[in-house]
Amino acid sequence: MTKSQTHDALLLINIRQLLTLRSDTGYGPRRGAELRELGIVEDGSVLCVSGKIVSVGKSTDATRDHWVRKHKKRLIEIDCTNQVVLPGFVDSHTHPAFVGPRLVDFEKRIAGASYEEIAEAGGGIRSSVDAVRKTSKVQLEKRVSAGLHAMLSHGTTTVEAKSGYGLSVESELKSLAAIQNAAGKWPGTVVSTLLGAHVVPAEFRQAPQEYVTLVCEQMISAAAKRKLAQFVDVFCDRGAFTEHDSLRIFEAAQRNNLPVRAHVSQLTRTPLKHLLQFSPASIDHLDHVNDEDISLLAKSDSVATLVPGANYFLGAGQYPPARKLIDAGVAVALATDYNPGSSPTPSMPFVLSLACTQMKMSPAEAISAATINGACALQLNNRKGTIESGKDADLAIFNMSDYREVAFWVASNKCEMVIANGMRVSARDD
Ligand code: NIG
Ligand code: FE
Repeated sequence: MTKSQTHDALLLINIRQLLTLRSDTGYGPRRGAELRELGIVEDGSVLCVSGKIVSVGKSTDATRDHWVRKHKKRLIEIDCTNQVVLPGFVDSHTHPAFVGPRLVDFEKRIAGASYEEIAEAGGGIRSSVDAVRKTSKVQLEKRVSAGLHAMLSHGTTTVEAKSGYGLSVESELKSLAAIQNAAGKWPGTVVSTLLGAHVVPAEFRQAPQEYVTLVCEQMISAAAKRKLAQFVDVFCDRGAFTEHDSLRIFEAAQRNNLPVRAHVSQLTRTPLKHLLQFSPASIDHLDHVNDEDISLLAKSDSVATLVPGANYFLGAGQYPPARKLIDAGVAVALATDYNPGSSPTPSMPFVLSLACTQMKMSPAEAISAATINGACALQLNNRKGTIESGKDADLAIFNMSDYREVAFWVASNKCEMVIANGMRVSARDD
């Protein structure tokens, strides 16, 4: 990946397929059949000025445009012949503040142990904590930056980044500060989430309620006061936090004016009725969601974020019921869940491939889920997720002539370039 450059004005032209994701229903989350509407313009063009999209249309219109002709000299033209352009992916669920991959867990799972068995035997999330606690903020920032750049090179321009491997006030704040510092040097947009309630750390194992109190009374307010987190997350599942704990955490978030999101139903069913009363921006995983919860989700504004990279990597052969959720009218998003234990991938195209082959989403549904619905999951849908005038200039340019290829090519990166907040970045290593 090469350096990013800020440009006053960029004109993308001759785009084989421009996926605008424009909808007559506005910027809200796409449900049901709306997920298949990509607003495709053939031979399209996009004009970006000072980090914003200012016009979207046909190449012929752009070349005739008065402003374009007048400002030809200061305009950088990007020829997108035989390329597909779509909104930069919004990866709305990642855990980049870690030190190293959990290779022992990986080998144990290959030998037959489950994610939960490994966690009970001292592996899992808890085994990532020691290294984060011992690492300096600067070192952690380097790890976060590496993750963000890998994501960018696969077409991602907006990322939600969680803490969650520090599990003490000091180390969670250090993780959030490392995310903030890395974000400041990255051309895309980062949304930070405090996940102090990832698991109960070893030193509180005999008194888990005391840890919940620490999260509620110290961690959340400290992160809010320092403006280090835009959301609060909780892992509400067997072996992590109970529904009661999660409600306490949501109440504390609300007291500190922070919106919430949650990891649920990954290992066992998590009842959603009470959690949904806090209007979480997103409810994630949902492998074991039941019909009652699906109908509650369909009636709510919460986005259901599916992370099939974790299902793939944990190898249990089961995936969340994407078709059932979409057909019931739930707003579904897709994200990588990039992390060192259950989903070590920065690639949204790989997640789209899994969504199509394993969860039977169509390529069009997967693209909407990975862009506009991801933006809704981060409450950024007024700025991100579609290519329309007035929105941030976040675009991904792929070397292909049909958008379905984004989800078709497995484990090969076809992303050529991204525009992130108007900055042009090559997605190639050279
Ligand atoms: O989303 N489920 C909880 N959290 C992460 C796992 C992180 C890890 O295993 O380190 C997830 O899959
Ligand atoms: Fe996660």
